[in-house]
Amino acid sequence: MQTIIQTKNLIKDYHTGEITVRALNGINLEISKGEFVAIMGASGSGKSTLMNILGCLDVPTEGDYFLDDVQVNKLSSKELADIRNQKIGFVFQGFNLLSRTSALENVEMPLLYNRKVHYPNPSKLAAEALERVGLGDRLHHHPNQLSGGQQQRVAIARSLINNPSVILADEPTGNLDSRTSIEVLSIFQELNKQGITILLITHEHDIAQYAKRNIEIKDGSILKDYTLEETKTAVEVLNDFETQKAEDL
Ligand SMILES: Nc1ncnc2c1ncn2[C@@H]1O[C@H](COP(=O)(O)OP(=O)(O)OP(=O)(O)O)[C@@H](O)[C@H]1O
Ligand SMILES: [Mg+2]
Repeated sequence: MQTIIQTKNLIKDYHTGEITVRALNGINLEISKGEFVAIMGASGSGKSTLMNILGCLDVPTEGDYFLDDVQVNKLSSKELADIRNQKIGFVFQGFNLLSRTSALENVEMPLLYNRKVHYPNPSKLAAEALERVGLGDRLHHHPNQLSGGQQQRVAIARSLINNPSVILADEPTGNLDSRTSIEVLSIFQELNKQGITILLITHEHDIAQYAKRNIEIKDGSILKDYTLEETKTAVEVLNDFETQKAEDL
């Protein structure tokens, strides 16, 4: 399988005043096309730091990072911004949608910032992305007219629009109740089935069970890295919810 992400001995130090915190302490990671990986770890273990480097939002203090065979840690900040725009889709805990614009306009946004490619019909592509996440009937709603789960689906549509090599999701279900979380996971599982590579960061063991591979980090190092023998299927869990509800009535 084609390698999408490869890191060699990534180290990240943060300096605040006299104090240095080593947030990443030698991360060696290889992720292939089509994987669905959950990165787990306690608060402060270095998950977001790793995601920021993998997402080209930050650079490591030491070590190498290859994304689609491009050595990212050698690039200028301008080149990093281009790579980020072309190869990475982001989903965050707080959705990060623009509140005064419609779902459609939010999803179009990354296309308008792409300096390399001109898209003749961004709103058509945005509408298609929203249809992929089941929001074809909410194109003109603003974020405050959508539920939390729907807002996160808009963010997922936005992350998809550039046809990224990988989607990075940092605690995407952190602000959602358990049922809505599973709905969002069902979308990730469906997109992964279609071949999209997904890296999901979570501190919840239950959420990680929906990924195919789990990586646990502790104090900036990889503690465990394994393929799950059995993954949970979000659609089935949602069906169980429905059955339970019907029985309760
Ligand atoms: N900008 C920064 N400046 C200084 N130290 C930082 C900075 N960002 C993170 N750290 C430190 O680096 C370590 C790793 O932080 P990080 O945010 O990556 O953890 P995390 O696993 O994402 O935690 P959480 O689950 O709480 O989001 C922590 O000890 C944190 O205090
Ligand atoms: Mg974090």
